[in-house]
Amino acid sequence: MQLTIGVLTSGGDAPGMNAVVRSVVRMGVHHGFSVLGFHRGFDGLMRGDFEALGPRSVSNILQRGGTILKTARSEEFETEDGQKKARRVLEEHGVGGLVVIGGDGSFRGAHALFRIWDGRIIGVPATIDNDIYGTDETIGFDTALNTALEAIDRIRDTASAHERLFLVEVMGRDSGFIALNVGTAGGAEEIFVPEVVTDLDACTERLIAARDKGKTMSIIICAEGDDQGGAFATAKELERRTGFEPRVSVLGHIQRGGRPSARDRILATKLGAYAVEAIHDGKTDVMVGEVRGELRATPLEESWTKKKELDRFLLELIPILAR
Ligand code: F6P
Repeated sequence: MQLTIGVLTSGGDAPGMNAVVRSVVRMGVHHGFSVLGFHRGFDGLMRGDFEALGPRSVSNILQRGGTILKTARSEEFETEDGQKKARRVLEEHGVGGLVVIGGDGSFRGAHALFRIWDGRIIGVPATIDNDIYGTDETIGFDTALNTALEAIDRIRDTASAHERLFLVEVMGRDSGFIALNVGTAGGAEEIFVPEVVTDLDACTERLIAARDKGKTMSIIICAEGDDQGGAFATAKELERRTGFEPRVSVLGHIQRGGRPSARDRILATKLGAYAVEAIHDGKTDVMVGEVRGELRATPLEESWTKKKELDRFLLELIPILAR
């Protein structure tokens, strides 16, 4: 089958996006497809800004963070006019399939396009937040976790040396996957996530009781979207309540950059190739993912309407292990 397919990266970048692009291009060529890489996500799609990609255009990118295609969050594409512009470009260039690499916002866009366009559209979940239903892990999550963990291990050294309370803010506007997992791996005393109402009274009691029992340092991990308004605000309030002099470290975009971990490269490679297989098999309006070791295609809409739950067992374990 002769087919032209497009690929784009959209929303917040995630380590492993390049590995997906490489896999899409080479699997596409394997099937005899022509592949167009659209620049800056849906912005490039609406403007017809693309380059033809062959096996050599994706050499030496497997190990690189960021995305060679660039990325953007496009407000215009949320409008019907924007979506129609994209459809026009796809029709004009004879594109029959499109791989959208990104998170939930990107999949909403992809689903909107599916409604008005005849081609096949497949989502590949890549976001450090891991907040996508239909895959156990999103591409980029493992790398971000390990980046944050390395930082927290370093903070632990100085927290221990100075016998301090530290609040470390990690990314996750609406989800606590990074916070919970890095907090567990880094031995944090408390974890604040958007999914759970924070009990600051109980937290204060635990911190004071731990000090009384000889614990000289503590680390609290706050997801940026927790209900306390971020690490600085929480630190101020805890200082008032405990009399400790906390320090704050906001890890920020460091978590989004860097070389993808082996695990992310493997997941990216599998899902990129599987996305092309899905197009080849005539699938559309689905997101590809891996669930319990098996490749799956989930309706795009379910990727954001259904919720992937945080591990409750881990959440309950944190205060028990912090004593
Ligand atoms: O969606 C990924 C993410 O890194 C979130 O964790 C974070 O809240 C957001 O993107 C930050 O976005 P921006 O880079 O546009 O400020």
